[in-house]
Amino acid sequence: MVVGGAGYIGSHTVRLLQSRSVPCVVFDNLSTGHRQAIPDDVPFVQADLADREAIGRALQEHKIQSVIHFAAKCYVGESVTEPSKYYRENVFNTWNLLEEMRTHNVMRIVFSSTCATYGNPVQVPMDESHPQKPINPYGHTKLHMEHMMGDYSTAYGLSYAALRYFNAAGAASGGCLGEHHEPETHLIPLVLQVALGQREFISIFGDDYETPDGTCIRDYIHVDDLGDAHLRALCQLEAGAQELHVNLGTGTGFSVKELIEMAREVTGHAIPARMGERRDGDPPQLVSGGTRALDLLGWKPEKAALKRILEDAWSFHRKHPGGYE
Ligand code: UFG
Repeated sequence: MVVGGAGYIGSHTVRLLQSRSVPCVVFDNLSTGHRQAIPDDVPFVQADLADREAIGRALQEHKIQSVIHFAAKCYVGESVTEPSKYYRENVFNTWNLLEEMRTHNVMRIVFSSTCATYGNPVQVPMDESHPQKPINPYGHTKLHMEHMMGDYSTAYGLSYAALRYFNAAGAASGGCLGEHHEPETHLIPLVLQVALGQREFISIFGDDYETPDGTCIRDYIHVDDLGDAHLRALCQLEAGAQELHVNLGTGTGFSVKELIEMAREVTGHAIPARMGERRDGDPPQLVSGGTRALDLLGWKPEKAALKRILEDAWSFHRKHPGGYE
C-alpha cells in the first residue's frame, strides 16, 4: 500500500511499481495529492490517516503485506508557524498507521525521511552518521517518525527503511507526471514558471552565504531515482533486513545561481533573477555523503545530471502549465 501515492514522489513510485508488475494500492486523502497522478487501473482508497478504521479496512481488504509511506506535510516555513499541524499529520498520523499495521500484522514499512533530520551540517558532505539535530519542526517530526519506527522495531519486530532524501526534483520522462504543489515554494518549479511566463522573475534567497558564489548549495536528486530506491529498500526488508537508514542524494551540490543558469540553457528563456533576503532555516549547503545506498541497496542514481533533471521537469511544466488542474 502506497500511502500518499497521489503526491509527487509517491505517484512516481507507483508508476515504477506498475512498470515492474508489483501490485499496489494507493491510500491518499488528496489534500495535496492529485487523483490524475494515479493510473486508472491502480486501486485507490481516498481516506485520511487520521481515520484508523479506514486504514485497518484498507490493509485487510487489499491483503497488504508492506507499506511505503510518503504522506506528510513538508513545508519547513509552515512547520515553524504551525507546528501543531506537523505533529498531528506527520507524527500522530504515522502512529495511527503503525498501530493499524501492527493490528493487521503488516510488519514492513519504507518511509520518507529527509536530510532535514540532520540540521545544520557540521561537515559536508553529510553521511548517515552525521548528528541528527533538526533546526525546524518539520525536521523534528521526521526524526520522531524515525525514532518511533526504531522503537517499534525493537519491541514488535517491525522492519523499516528510513530513506533520507536530499532535494527531490525532476519528473518522469515524457512529461506525464511531475511536481505540482499548492502553494509552490520549491526552487525548480518556480524557476520553470518564470520560463513559462507565469512569473516575472525568480528571487534568490540570499547571496551572502559561505559558498563559492554566495548562494545556497543543494543536492538535487531525480524523483525516479528516489522511486527506484524505495523498491530496492522494500526488497531488502523482504529479504530480512530489519532497520535501514539511508541517504538518497547524488553527492554533488549545485548553487542556486548555477541551477538558474542551467535552467536558462535548458529552457532557452532568460529567466530574470533578483537578489532577495535569506529565507529562515536555510542551511548554506546540503550534500549527501557516504556509500550506504550503494552498499546496502545496490542503488546509485541513474538520472543524476542536473541538466537531465531540469529537462524532465521542463517537459512536465510545458505540457501542464497549470499543473494537474
Ligand atoms: N530558493 C530560492 N528562491 C526561491 C525558492 C528557493 O533562492 O524562490 C532557494 C532556497 O533558499 C534553497 C534552494 O533554493 O537554498 C532550494 O530550495 P527549495 O525550497 O527548493 O528546497 P529546500 O532545500 O528548502 O527543501 C528541501 C525539501 C524539504 C526538505 C529540505 C531539507 O523540499 O522538504 O529540502 O532541508 F525539508
